[in-house]
Amino acid sequence: MFPQSRGRFSRQAHCDLPEGTFEEEFARQGFFGPASHLYHAHAPTEWLRIEGPLRPRAYDLRRVEAADAEDPAAALTPVLGNQDLRIKLSRRTQAMPFAYRNADADLIYFVHRGAGEMATDFGRLYYEQGDYLVLPRGTTHRIFPQGEESFLLVIASSEMPELPPADRMGQHSPFDRAVLRLPEIPFSAGPPNAVGEWELVIEREGQWTRVFYPFDPIDTVGWKGDLSAYALNVRDIRPVTSGRYHLPPSVHTTLRTSGFVLCTFTPRRIEGIDDEGAVRLPFYHRNIDYDEVLFYHAGQFMSRAGIDAGMMTWHPQGIHHGPQPKAVERDRNLTKTHHDEVAVMIDAVHPLHPLAGAEQSEILEYAESWMPQIDD
Ligand SMILES: [Fe+2]
Repeated sequence: MFPQSRGRFSRQAHCDLPEGTFEEEFARQGFFGPASHLYHAHAPTEWLRIEGPLRPRAYDLRRVEAADAEDPAAALTPVLGNQDLRIKLSRRTQAMPFAYRNADADLIYFVHRGAGEMATDFGRLYYEQGDYLVLPRGTTHRIFPQGEESFLLVIASSEMPELPPADRMGQHSPFDRAVLRLPEIPFSAGPPNAVGEWELVIEREGQWTRVFYPFDPIDTVGWKGDLSAYALNVRDIRPVTSGRYHLPPSVHTTLRTSGFVLCTFTPRRIEGIDDEGAVRLPFYHRNIDYDEVLFYHAGQFMSRAGIDAGMMTWHPQGIHHGPQPKAVERDRNLTKTHHDEVAVMIDAVHPLHPLAGAEQSEILEYAESWMPQIDD
């Protein structure tokens, strides 16, 4: 069906909005399916109040007392989850006292703060701030933080995450796969427990089984094949932008499964900056096919104030989000030419549910932050 139209509208999405209107992209399948642009007389986020469970949520994950911060043998603290993925938090200061294998999920560790080493079946990965560490389901591993706390956002996925296909951008954008780091071999064994044994914890259907060995079970001396753990640092991502058009967030895709898409927002020239008619801030939408989670890693965040590194927002399917009134106002007298933010977005197909870490850290007034009288 070719585009239909009624009333006042713009022929080009995200450009030359009719005077005094607020543009919403009402779309299916994220930003890829059938879509219409609605030109509203008011910002759809300027509600008076919300009654009921469906509301934008924000969490200050720095407030979460992650179980492994005190007890290095504790499980990770879950924050949000559904049948396809769980988002968890680790705030580790001491080495894992055992090797760990997750038989339920592929794991993506995002290193928000800290550095250290991760021993894996494929060798040893050295990690630092801004790294994604991607482990195939079943990979045995053990984390040895160095220095201060390793603050890790962990995504446990029931399906193997894949790098985005080359598509029209070619195979070297937004990062050349040669920037992916593989674990190194040889490496030395981890220390045994107090009685001289090496413990392996296997998690299956959420339950732990403990296997004890007279040697370190992470003892690979070599390997070959097309399945491995690997690391990617956000600094090696070179984002696609346009001076004349606000691109959808999906151009920043880093990993995906059929249950979620993970995107990374990295420092970039502000979109739309070369064309007065082009919008520079994200358009409003009700994200009807994805729950949107954004974890703020570093820098200053473009679409809103009052959100700092270590915080996370969750915009559930069906209720609007978009730039705050203050961010819109700020955009009118724009002097900035670049965004310096780094953020991790997880768009989940099925509705997410808040778990223990979310309950500990919710910023209750977040849903009111679009009201025009709230100052940033
Ligand atoms: Fe969004």
